[in-house]
Amino acid sequence: MKRIVVLLSLFFIVGIAAANLGYAEYGDIVMGKKLESLKKAGVKPVMFPHWFHRIRFKCKVCHEDIFILQRGANDISMKKIMDGEACGKCHNGVIAWDALSCDRCHSWDGPVPPYPLPQAVK
Ligand code: HEC
Ligand code: HEC
Ligand code: HEC
Repeated sequence: MKRIVVLLSLFFIVGIAAANLGYAEYGDIVMGKKLESLKKAGVKPVMFPHWFHRIRFKCKVCHEDIFILQRGANDISMKKIMDGEACGKCHNGVIAWDALSCDRCHSWDGPVPPYPLPQAVK
């Protein structure tokens, strides 16, 4: 019984720690290369739900034809997306919803890590 209580409180503490950081799911990637232009345009930073995509596509769909396998290494812009590159390869209203749903990608309220960074947000 005591062990269970200890375990449960451990989970609780870990849960709170994760909640405080405000991070999304494990392995998700907060992008932060374009912060200044984002601020000017009044949109939030992008949280890329890596896991959500990983369970739907094989890695090689994206790596490395679309994205270099390193956080912060890809220069993604709205021009590219609208032109059907980067996220726009799929977010074009055909494979997935289109690039006009700004808030679905620009959704991040938490802290944005400096770039480049060696690892994903954990
Ligand atoms: C499919 C996801 C997605 C959608 C939808 C989307 N964006 Fe973006 N946007 C991105 C990504 C990724 C970046 C690069 C962010 C970074 O590197 O910090 C970006 C960058 C930007 C930038 C920085 C300047 C530039 O052009 O690169 C602005 C401004 C911007 N988006 C505005 C918008 C607006 C306004 C909309 C809706 C019309 C929109 N975005 C829709 C993913 C998206
Ligand atoms: C290989 C295709 C593909 C690429 C590339 C891609 N996405 Fe997606 N994305 C999808 C599909 C498919 C969905 C699910 C669409 C649906 O549910 O209608 C999705 C859903 C999402 C969602 C919603 C997740 C949720 O919880 O509902 C976000 C946010 C998102 N993508 C952002 C991005 C951003 C940002 C990029 C570029 C860095 C990107 N995607 C690149 C295919 C892709
Ligand atoms: C829908 C496209 C997509 C799919 C599918 C995908 N990734 Fe990624 N991955 C990305 C994007 C976007 C980034 C971030 C690139 C950036 O920040 O410039 C990334 C980054 C990474 C990174 C670097 C993380 C870091 O911290 O530097 C690794 C490792 C990675 N992916 C592994 C995988 C593996 C393994 C799979 C398959 C199980 C996979 N990816 C599937 C889009 C994808």
